[in-house]
Amino acid sequence: MQLILIVIVTLFVSSLRANEVLVFEDASELVENCAWKIVTVIDGNNKKGEKTVLGLATGSTPIPLYEALIKITYENHFDWSHVVTFNLDEYVGLPHGHEQSYRYFMDRYLFSRLAFPNYILGIKPENIHFPDVRLCDGKDISLRQFTDDYEMLLACEGPIDIQILGIGTNGHIGFAEPGSSFSGSTMVVALSESTIRDNARFFGGDINAVPQKAITMGIGSILKAKDIILLATGANKAAIMEKVLTSSPAEDIPATALHFHDNVTIYLDKEAAPWKQ
Ligand code: F6R
Repeated sequence: MQLILIVIVTLFVSSLRANEVLVFEDASELVENCAWKIVTVIDGNNKKGEKTVLGLATGSTPIPLYEALIKITYENHFDWSHVVTFNLDEYVGLPHGHEQSYRYFMDRYLFSRLAFPNYILGIKPENIHFPDVRLCDGKDISLRQFTDDYEMLLACEGPIDIQILGIGTNGHIGFAEPGSSFSGSTMVVALSESTIRDNARFFGGDINAVPQKAITMGIGSILKAKDIILLATGANKAAIMEKVLTSSPAEDIPATALHFHDNVTIYLDKEAAPWKQ
């Protein structure tokens, strides 16, 4: 693996803990480095006969990371059979199989490619967990019970070894929007106007086609992970990343909650970190 790391910045924000901020020349170096970090943890646990619990994100940012993980898997016959996954979030209200549902996204970009037929080292369908309220279909279960059950499952299977996060331009992580409590657990949320606007690009540019609600792990659930990786690429993430890195923790910028965690690595490409040029 050729790793060209252009800058490693340790950023101290007033009296807060330090996060490691890695700035890469471009997104492909970034994802290669990040993918190797993830497989190294999984491999270490495999060798000890232990499972690895991964927290997964959707959105455009992690797609190249998932491709890098698949490439490493194919080239190294990498073993995913002891990996357990929890996805961060899902829209409420999209029908089964909708191409913009996050379940469809994960199947398309990662799961189906790690569980191809006869690959015994592939990820096991029963190890994939999703906060998908459609799982309640036909059952007499309230959303509240569903969110509590997801949190319970996280507690039973967890802690998450590595939580992967993207970030919204308003600072959301998962779909924990500005104003979310830093101690919040899995919940149903109303999506903010800016998130609906940002995500309209996936719905043919039609704001009205974007669901208004989602189910998401809360910030409190996210902070329980042992290790957190936040990825941000592209110039449209520069402003929010600068804010996150220089602001004191405040609920109006959800990602600032990460300052309270001991083990966060932030992966940026040059465009998301123009302040480092
Ligand atoms: C999705 C998620 C969101 C996205 C964020 C950025 O599972 O957790 O917080 O990470 O909206 O999305 P992209 O990567 O499309 O800019």
